[in-house]
Amino acid sequence: MLLDSLLTPYTLLLIPLIYYLLPYLRNRSIRDIPGPPLAAFSNLWLLYQCRLGRRYLAVDEAHKKYGPLVRIQPHHVSVADTSAIPVIYSHTGGWLKSEYYDAFVSIQRGLFNTRDRAEHTRKRKTVSHTFSQKSIGQFEQYMTYNLHELVKQWDRMSKTAISSGQPWAEMDCLHWFNYLAFDIIGDLAFGAPFGMLPKGKDIAEVKMTPDSPTTYAPAIEVLNRRGEVSGTIGCYPAIKPYAKYLPDSFFRDGVRAVQNLAGIAVARVNARLDSPDEDKGRRKDLLARLMEGKDENGNSLGREELTAEALTQLIAGSDTTSNTSCAWLYWTLKTPGIMEKLQRELDAAIPDGVEIPEYEMVKDLPYLRNVISETLRIHSTSSLGLPRVVPPAPACLVGMRRRGGV
Ligand code: HEM
Repeated sequence: MLLDSLLTPYTLLLIPLIYYLLPYLRNRSIRDIPGPPLAAFSNLWLLYQCRLGRRYLAVDEAHKKYGPLVRIQPHHVSVADTSAIPVIYSHTGGWLKSEYYDAFVSIQRGLFNTRDRAEHTRKRKTVSHTFSQKSIGQFEQYMTYNLHELVKQWDRMSKTAISSGQPWAEMDCLHWFNYLAFDIIGDLAFGAPFGMLPKGKDIAEVKMTPDSPTTYAPAIEVLNRRGEVSGTIGCYPAIKPYAKYLPDSFFRDGVRAVQNLAGIAVARVNARLDSPDEDKGRRKDLLARLMEGKDENGNSLGREELTAEALTQLIAGSDTTSNTSCAWLYWTLKTPGIMEKLQRELDAAIPDGVEIPEYEMVKDLPYLRNVISETLRIHSTSSLGLPRVVPPAPACLVGMRRRGGV
């Protein structure tokens, strides 16, 4: 009876009003920050931009219109000011990763998506030796091997073009930088390259559980899809458990991609852990370093956590490197004079007949370093924002004081 009298058409109309008004009111402290009007009331504005693959454009346009601080969700402010970087991203500032990162968890939380400060410290302690100068030096042999594979393929393509009377070979360099990055990270994090360079193809082995049969999946495409769908769900992580039931196949395919990617890691880490002991000790790669890692109580990573961390390295280290390499080549060729100057510096530093230079030969070349830094500056590998939660202590950003909230 009471329910009947409450559910009048007028009160039903109030439900969406309350639904959108509550998040707006709950975040009153940022009500004076401008932004697209819908974004202040609902996560759907940002989610929709992500779904269209134009978040970076929409947020950039909003900054051009509204200034360095823009409200892009009811509880989320985008900051476009370099002076804010050391405040937000310093290790001691207490700005923890937001719930956005929950959307990126698969298998279990890894270094990248762990939000708890103590857990992140434990993981860093277990994993940090992996990136010591000595370890990186030992990784070089795997990078050199795969770079040789790339040069072999590009030489083959050039020879084929020339022998058929063409002055050059045409190719999409991003594909080849992807094969290179995946084969290097596969070699380092999973004990063997995926074999994309020799095949000239995006393909990797998948196993959903240690005992399930082996299938094959395009790892690069799977990784891209996973990034797009996780970045979209990250705007509204509560929908993650239901994403595969949404009518839009973007979400269904994305959830499948996340599972496939985890399957790739499971297949590779199991093959290594189940290999004979003498094989395990032979390689000096990232997976070997992760297997040696110990936390402050002397505990190693268990099989599942090890797999999650190896997968973290694959995700964090592959398309970041390939996109940056491709951007480097693009800007170096496009900007007059750069390639010639770089070539002169490299020719002077690398002895004749050396096809793939050693790190020692090129580590102190100032112009090369500047070209890489400038590439990283003008081509942002991640356009997702990397959101953090404002700590309880007041923070001064772009001249404004803020306390608590996201
Ligand atoms: C051009 C290449 C790269 C760029 C531009 C890049 C950029 C970044 C950025 C911006 C973050 C912070 C992410 C966040 O706060 O959400 C990050 C984190 C991370 N990156 Fe990279 N990265 C690159 C290459 C690599 C490689 C090659 C590896 C490993 C093989 C790697 C492993 C990681 C890991 C494990 C984290 C998480 C660290 C933590 O939370 O403590 N990255 N990277």
